[in-house]
Amino acid sequence: MPQRKRYLFVCVNRRPDGTPKGSCAARGAEGLHARLKQLLKERGLAGTEVRACTSSCLDTCWAGPTIAVEPDNYFYGRVKETDLEEIVDGLARGERVERLVLSPSDFEMPRDIREREQAERKAKLG
Ligand code: FES
Repeated sequence: MPQRKRYLFVCVNRRPDGTPKGSCAARGAEGLHARLKQLLKERGLAGTEVRACTSSCLDTCWAGPTIAVEPDNYFYGRVKETDLEEIVDGLARGERVERLVLSPSDFEMPRDIREREQAERKAKLG
């Protein structure tokens, strides 16, 4: 198989239920990855243009499910299955789906999650 023009890294990290950050797998990322692969294959993009890979945590858990698009260097976030056809259409045209692209502020952990994590850490230390 040739090197593809783009690689999509779909975070499929899973954390235990109830953790403050949550995880992409708990939000359905494994199914998104499988459907994305299927759509890329159906559109004839999988072999030469785009490969959808799984990834461990991309450190934007609160905005997940998260997909990193490389080498373009942007992330999609809060992706739902109903967004995937639009994402694949965009890839076919070499365009981004702007409404799903994470902004710089999305890379900062929200304050409420940070505080809950700190509280959990303190409680564990006793
Ligand atoms: S669990 Fe997916 S970005 Fe962290």
